[in-house]
Amino acid sequence: MSRKPIIAGNWKMNKTIDDALELVRSIRAGVRDIDSVETVVCPPFITLSAVSDSLATSNVGVGAQNVYFEESGAYTGETAPDMIEGLVSYCIIGHSERRQVFGESDEWVNKKAKALIAHGITPIICVGESLEQNQAGETESFVRGQIEGSLDGLTAEQVANLVIAYEPIWAIGTGLTATPVDANRTIGISIRGVVADLYDEATAQSVRIQYGGSAKPENIASFMLQPDIDGALVGGASLKADSFVKMIEETAGALGS
Ligand code: 13P
Repeated sequence: MSRKPIIAGNWKMNKTIDDALELVRSIRAGVRDIDSVETVVCPPFITLSAVSDSLATSNVGVGAQNVYFEESGAYTGETAPDMIEGLVSYCIIGHSERRQVFGESDEWVNKKAKALIAHGITPIICVGESLEQNQAGETESFVRGQIEGSLDGLTAEQVANLVIAYEPIWAIGTGLTATPVDANRTIGISIRGVVADLYDEATAQSVRIQYGGSAKPENIASFMLQPDIDGALVGGASLKADSFVKMIEETAGALGS
């Protein structure tokens, strides 16, 4: 089963509308001829509409960074799936920054995943352990729990089409990375293996799983050569066109395409 690699840029809280449009113009031109890798940008909400228009006829997809699970109502500051439907194909949920700063739980991630799927948007579900959990040898059980909680009640078909991002919290924005072998092992055992336990092997082999945490042009190929790693969720290195485009090129090159 071959899974198309997906490199997604999570811009976090960066870029004005003008900056965003300038960045996507360069990314669009840079990856124009690369179709073996799926390229996605996830800009802040305020720029989504302009970025989506700008990329309408390109091979660069658009994702949101968050969503609320209710359809509408008195939820000041929140955005409903219905409002981003048509603008995005993907939406990041459960990022560790949202879990840590905004208290997002696995239960919420699960509700958000269901709400997105109901609107035809593919969730990018983020999981990953803290430094303390990593050092205490709790990575496997913690990530397993996050996956079980996040996928609760989803069908095999829905799970097969998801994207999951394994982002060890201690590797995000720190310049530290999990080794490609360790990241591949955690992804294989605690994510793909758990999907196989909960569903079946075919579903586990279909779901695309990214690595995230200080991924950059210099290290992306080593992650992409691992059998269970299907791409990357990129923070800092996605904010400049040259480094982001280089990561797409490196990914295509590593896979010989
Ligand atoms: P960095 O690539 O900046 O470490 O961020 C990773 C991340 O959090 C992507 O979602």
